Amino acid sequence: MGNMKLWNVAKIKASKGVCRIPCVTVYDTAFARLADAAGIPLLLVGDSLGMAVLGYASTLPVTLEQMLHHTAAVVRGTADALVVADMPFLTYQISVPEALRNAGRFLQEAGADAVKIEGGAFRAELVRTLTQNGIPVLGHIGLTPQSVNVFGGFKVQGRTREAGEQLVADAVALAQAGAFAIVLECVPPDIAAAVTAASPVPVIGIGAGPVCDGQVLVMHDLLGLSAGKPPRFVKPYAALAETVRDAFRAYASEVQAGSFPAPEHCYPPSESSVQ
Ligand code: KIV
Repeated sequence: MGNMKLWNVAKIKASKGVCRIPCVTVYDTAFARLADAAGIPLLLVGDSLGMAVLGYASTLPVTLEQMLHHTAAVVRGTADALVVADMPFLTYQISVPEALRNAGRFLQEAGADAVKIEGGAFRAELVRTLTQNGIPVLGHIGLTPQSVNVFGGFKVQGRTREAGEQLVADAVALAQAGAFAIVLECVPPDIAAAVTAASPVPVIGIGAGPVCDGQVLVMHDLLGLSAGKPPRFVKPYAALAETVRDAFRAYASEVQAGSFPAPEHCYPPSESSVQ
C-alpha cells in the first residue's frame, strides 16, 4: 500500500457540521503542490480548465483526454488533499455504462480520488452506479456551466420558490444516491442556506453566500490571475497578474540591456579557451 493521504471522501463527508471545507481548482503540478502545502483539503481539477488555462469561452470544448492529462499532473503534485476531477461535457451524459468507463479512467489512469458531475436528481442513477462501483462522486447543482446554453448565459439560479425547492430536492437526491459532497454554484444565499440545512452531505458553495459547509474558487480568480473582471462572488487574495507581468517586463528589459545574465549567473571559465 502507498502512503495514505490525510484527506479522503469519508473525512470530507464527516466534516459536515464540524469544520468548513476550503476547496480550490488547480490544473498542474506546481500549483497543486502549493495548494496542498497550504493545507487545502479538496483540490478540484475543474473543467474551468477550458476558460482559465486553455482560452476557450466556455467549458464545453474541454475533452476527456485534456482532463486526464491535467488531472494526472495535479495528482503528481498532491500529497494530502483529495483530488477530484471534473468529468467534461458529453463524457457522462450519453449512457450510464459510458459514464462509468470514462469516470473509471480518472481513477485508474490519472490517479484521481473522485469525479465531479453536473446535474441534480436526474443524475441520481448515475451517481449510484458510480459509487457502487468504487468511484466517489462530488455533485454539482445550481449554475452548472456545461448547461450555459440552456440557461442563456452564466446566470444566478434558484431565484423562484419552485427553483429553490428543486435545488433542495436535488441535493437530497444526490446525497441519497451516494454523492459525498455537493458543489452549489451561483444561487441566492437564502436558497444556499436551505440546501445546506437539508443536505446530509457537505455543500461546497461558489457564489452561494456564507451559509454553506465549504467554499470553492477558481484558482486564477483567487490569485488575481484572471483576464477581465472576475464575478461578484470572487475575492482575490493576491494580485499575481501584476506581479508576473512586472517580472516578465524586468526580465525582458535586462536581457535587452545586456545586464542579465551577470557574472554570478555564469559557470566558472573553462580550463583552456577554445580557439
Ligand atoms: O470547473 C470548475 O472549476 C468548477 C468549479 C468552479 C466548481 O466546476
